[in-house]
Amino acid sequence: MKRIVLFASGSGSNVENISNYFLNNSEVKITAVLTNKSDAKVIERCNRLNISALYFNRHAFYKTDCILDILKNMEPDLIILAGFLLKVPEKLVKNFPNKIVNIHPALLPKYGGKGMYGMNVHNAVKTNNEQETGITIHYVNENYDEGAIIKQAKTQISVTDSATDIAHKVHELEYEHFPQVIDQLLHG
Ligand code: GAR
Repeated sequence: MKRIVLFASGSGSNVENISNYFLNNSEVKITAVLTNKSDAKVIERCNRLNISALYFNRHAFYKTDCILDILKNMEPDLIILAGFLLKVPEKLVKNFPNKIVNIHPALLPKYGGKGMYGMNVHNAVKTNNEQETGITIHYVNENYDEGAIIKQAKTQISVTDSATDIAHKVHELEYEHFPQVIDQLLHG
């Protein structure tokens, strides 16, 4: 049995998509979703999907070993950041080398770093009149959005696309590729 722990801060549509992908796979289990937002929509999704959701605050995350201890107990094969917006503390990175994987909604190294998340990314891509954007799935290291890249996928942007249209295209890429990459990492 392979175990995945997910971190999410927002809507959780990637969490739901990953959960659906592994639904009939008795070899892979989503142990829990951890969130730093007590009102995140992902919690509702977890209730519906019958996945345990655990809320933690910044203090617990940065100033205590609470999350580290929880993760150690869960013995995850992979820790997946699916729309998780906080920087991962160094001690977590050190304790789970090459086990923490993030998805970023742009073609890193472009549009990465602090403040670059969700619609901020797509608005910047639109403002700069980019002709393409995409997703980057990468390992997490001590610096925002700088870990080794596992996979990138691209989509074209037309001049009439709004930032919301771009977000939609990027989400479609995420739904297509993220579960498959997770599957490959678990079994590769
Ligand atoms: C996703 O597009 C993900 O790439 C992005 O947040 C969105 C979450 O959507 N992550 C980041 O921006 C991380 N820097 P979701 O909550 O519907 O899965």
